[in-house]
Amino acid sequence: MKSMEKIVSLCKRRGFLFQSSEIYGGVQGFWDYGPLGVELKRNLKEAWWNDMLTSHNELVTSADTPSTYEMVGLDSTIIMHPQVWKCSGHFDLFHDHMIDCPEAKRRYRFDQVRGRWVEYQDKKIFVATMAEAAEEADDVRRRGMKFFKLRNKDADKMTLGSESITLDQLDSTTDVLGPDAKSLDTLTEPREFNLMFKTTLGALGGEDDVTFLRPETAQGIFVNFKNVLDSSRVRVPFGIGQVGKSFRNEITPRNFTFRSREFEQMEIEFFCHPDQSQDWYRFWRDRRLAWYTSLGLSSESLIMREHHTEELAHYSIGTADIEYAFPFLPEGEYGELEGIAHRGDFDLRSHMEGKLDPQTPKGQRMEVELGADGKPKHRGSGKDLSYRDELTGERYIPHVIEPSAGADRGALAFICEAYSEDEAPDEKGKMQTRTVMKLNPRLAPIKAAVFPLVKKDGMPEVAKDIYGELKKHMNVFYDEKGAVGRRYRRQDEAGTPYCITVDTESLSEKTVTVRDRDSLQQSRVRIDDLVAEITQRIESH
Ligand code: GAP
Repeated sequence: MKSMEKIVSLCKRRGFLFQSSEIYGGVQGFWDYGPLGVELKRNLKEAWWNDMLTSHNELVTSADTPSTYEMVGLDSTIIMHPQVWKCSGHFDLFHDHMIDCPEAKRRYRFDQVRGRWVEYQDKKIFVATMAEAAEEADDVRRRGMKFFKLRNKDADKMTLGSESITLDQLDSTTDVLGPDAKSLDTLTEPREFNLMFKTTLGALGGEDDVTFLRPETAQGIFVNFKNVLDSSRVRVPFGIGQVGKSFRNEITPRNFTFRSREFEQMEIEFFCHPDQSQDWYRFWRDRRLAWYTSLGLSSESLIMREHHTEELAHYSIGTADIEYAFPFLPEGEYGELEGIAHRGDFDLRSHMEGKLDPQTPKGQRMEVELGADGKPKHRGSGKDLSYRDELTGERYIPHVIEPSAGADRGALAFICEAYSEDEAPDEKGKMQTRTVMKLNPRLAPIKAAVFPLVKKDGMPEVAKDIYGELKKHMNVFYDEKGAVGRRYRRQDEAGTPYCITVDTESLSEKTVTVRDRDSLQQSRVRIDDLVAEITQRIESH
């Protein structure tokens, strides 16, 4: 059975993920990738870069593509001019509502606090909890009993609401027991909390030197739009892709790496003619969903969810999320993996003219907010970020479609999907439960493991030669310790798709066995053909 507990335990045991600064007790919302995890995440980013950018062939157009397009890459800085964040809207609008509990000295995201009604005798209270969905009812029952000072034998005298609801669904007269509180009504009213990490530039560190760690990689692309246009031969429609770290001071980081404070994004800003933007929006939604299934996420665990108008971010005139059924969520619920947003011309226009008034209804946010002096409050760069079509002579501000993916959420989804338990024969041929990470070979941290069947008769020497040869082309692992069955099991847990064993026949016939992780089938391959054979098997996925 797949459970988050087992997945987290495997990640730690096998070196996929560790808590950051663990020896000092850890720091919430930060995660380190171990030797296997770093390879997996690198492979995921590499697959994205390759499939979206470098292997994209601008000359190929298909029936589903509105027209041919080009893709280029960028690597912009994490710290940028503070004005970037004023014009992007993040300075004024990028916040969550949070509530504090002075008694417990804790802070929570308002929309994440859930709970249930608890009734004992004639008193009814709402017990709030931050427990995971599966443990929510138990946590509410335990804390309700503690609050009413009930013993276990009196448990059935207390009634527990069957439905879990969020705190924001309650009216203000309700008595609430905060998630970590002992007394009632300790929670404050919701307040806005900006999610950007502040930092200061230079040694003086005055108010004017304050800037922020980027909360998205996207803005680095917008402010370089003109540089890319002027320095390369791209013409609209085209996309700029970027992979890099982003930082958000999340109030309640949770669910393993799902909501972290430091994470990596893989973002594309795709610039197109306003008249074609809806076609491109559809194109990117389909293309990105297909990418996840091509790398092994099952289509039953994925959904495309269109945002309601009130959910849209300040820049967006339409957004669809690709969501995945992460195992930490209740049955039937999905968590965001990637957002595909139609950003209109919000960003280019605001970096050109100044910050847009957040009160203006979405879709009409083209007005510049004026200060008391009648000048734009947050001035844009003043640079012309419009585009002139050389063929038609038309000048316009391109619209932007933004497929924005999280590398850490992606890695987590692939880890969750890959985790499986099945039955396989052990070294004595007895069927045993095995844990296996069925990662797509392109993503697998180790592509092949090489074993000598025994540690004698010249087998280690042959195996080491093979290892050396394969190592020039891919990440390979050499192991000669313990029974070969146990070595297979260790590689199954690491997600290694192919295990190569050198046996007596290898010495006489110059062949080895290649065992497939998923089918468990073994085939004999000539040693001279191994590099080509394993490469071909990986690339065929
Ligand atoms: N430029 C648009 C943008 O940043 P977003 O929906 O806020 O949009 C895009 O973020 C993706 O970044 C998300 O779908 C998710 O995969 C990832 N992401 C966002 N916040 C994250 C966090 N706190 N921890 C891990 N990944 C996160």
